[in-house]
Amino acid sequence: MEFSSARHVAAALAGAPAAIDASRPALPYYAEQGGEVALFAQAHRQRLPVLIKGPTGCGKTRFVEHMAARLGRPLVTVSCHDDLSAADLVGRHLIGDGNTLWNDGPLTRAVRAGAICYLDEVVEARKDTTVVLHPLADDRRVLPIERTGELLAAPPAFMLVISYNPGYQNLLKSLKPSTRQRFVALNFGYPDAAVERAIVEAEAGVSADVAQQLVQLAQALRRLTDHDLEETVSTRALVMAARLAAAGVALPTACRAAIVDALTDDADTAAALAEVVAAVIPG
Ligand SMILES: Nc1ncnc2c1ncn2[C@@H]1O[C@H](COP(=O)(O)OP(=O)(O)OP(=O)(O)O)[C@@H](O)[C@H]1O
Ligand SMILES: [Mg+2]
Repeated sequence: MEFSSARHVAAALAGAPAAIDASRPALPYYAEQGGEVALFAQAHRQRLPVLIKGPTGCGKTRFVEHMAARLGRPLVTVSCHDDLSAADLVGRHLIGDGNTLWNDGPLTRAVRAGAICYLDEVVEARKDTTVVLHPLADDRRVLPIERTGELLAAPPAFMLVISYNPGYQNLLKSLKPSTRQRFVALNFGYPDAAVERAIVEAEAGVSADVAQQLVQLAQALRRLTDHDLEETVSTRALVMAARLAAAGVALPTACRAAIVDALTDDADTAAALAEVVAAVIPG
């Protein structure tokens, strides 16, 4: 039996990092890209797990929040990192006042609650997590809790959702085919111009004209291929620029801060991006 470190005990006592959030009353705003809402709902009904892939800031997290609220399920989100182990997901024994207590991890709590469990950036997690994800993601739908000997059957409402950004993938960090093929895959990109305009307007409260300029800028920046950019401008960055503009910051300044300088540290690349901003957005 492996006992937890003081760090884990402290984390558990301080309150779980991924608490079950069943209290969100309103439906989080989500503008659909094309058919993913119905597909996700069908996957939930068919008890199939879902994998969402797409670049940063394209709406993956918002989509899952929206769907959880829409389906009336609590949402448990776990941000995966390279230290995240199966025990972090499933649970561990904690040393209390002279005795040891079992403490469910976020995945176990999600299964028990019939929640939607969202593992964000799952490729970052340690490889031993596949041992617990595989039986949960295929038609067995069970979570083996090795340390207590419990084999927990997932209720019909439980759903496993994982996401990752294919742009960050390298050979060492990719999902095994045996993992990927257990999931229904949804491939997200940045929304088309009309949808993105609606998002920028709704999220930042800017005028249709400002939203239009920002989306035009995004389209121009996304056409650039000859720059040393790891990723291009996200919908999230557009919303941030729009929020600054709504708060009174001049639009070119907002674009410089939320888009250009956020995208690159390289002075030449920043100058090239700033030229595009100047061409699309009048100063
Ligand atoms: N389809 C959408 N509907 C509503 N808002 C959206 C949509 N897409 C993006 N947004 C806006 O962009 C922001 C970022 O989206 P979100 O956090 O869902 O991105 P993500 O794909 O999860 O990114 P990351 O991979 O970095 O976690 C949201 O907070 C929201 O303001
Ligand atoms: Mg996210």
